Amino acid sequence: MYIKNLLSKKVIEKGIFITFEGGEGSGKSTQISFLSKLLTEQNIPHIITREPGGTETGEQIRKILLQGKIDKLDPYSEFLCFAASRREHLKKIILPALSENKIVLCDRFVDSSIVYQGMVGGLNEDIILKVHDDFCYKKYPDLTLLLDVRPKIGLTRKNKITLDENRFENFKGKFHELVQKKFLDLALRHNNRYRIINAENNKEFIFNEIIDHLKHFFSGNL
Ligand code: TYD
Repeated sequence: MYIKNLLSKKVIEKGIFITFEGGEGSGKSTQISFLSKLLTEQNIPHIITREPGGTETGEQIRKILLQGKIDKLDPYSEFLCFAASRREHLKKIILPALSENKIVLCDRFVDSSIVYQGMVGGLNEDIILKVHDDFCYKKYPDLTLLLDVRPKIGLTRKNKITLDENRFENFKGKFHELVQKKFLDLALRHNNRYRIINAENNKEFIFNEIIDHLKHFFSGNL
């Protein structure tokens, strides 16, 4: 495959932090598992992880955040739970993996807080960024793949598979439309590290597009 030819010529000499962002049902976890399978086949050291979660404590915080009533948490308490989970995640999983020169594939990261809690939820974005910089090691991804999908498609996909972690999905349609729009705005703001992928195509097509982006990214960064 593409990526193999590309990577086999070069050795990864530093960890690479790749995040996947997008609205509900954008297919991030499917694409992460496709990519992980490919990297495993190529013997390329990597880990896959997710937020909120990633550590044992993070997974407990995840339950608090994603289950239960929409209005059960004060908005800043909610954000601080995401941030606490993220600090644990960085300290115990992400930073050690990067220092071992692994590729880290992470399902959501601080951009989700910026969009969900900040741009859509109305929390002060400067506070979100300050907490990130002060407590989350000022760590930002090397590359972020935004899987862009209209909520009416994403939510239908999700309804087919989802379980009890639906606190955020229960917000009304307008909320999800805003999430999609704000992610696109954020991607334009950070267009050096963002790549936007049309996630309404079929999953094989989307994966090929991701590989194309990675090919360019790796050729410039390794
Ligand atoms: P999850 O079931 O993982 O959703 P998805 O499959 O769409 O990624 O739930 C994560 C939810 O948490 C999702 O609705 C977005 C939300 N979230 C935030 O609001 N802020 C954050 O910082 C993070 C990491 C997630």
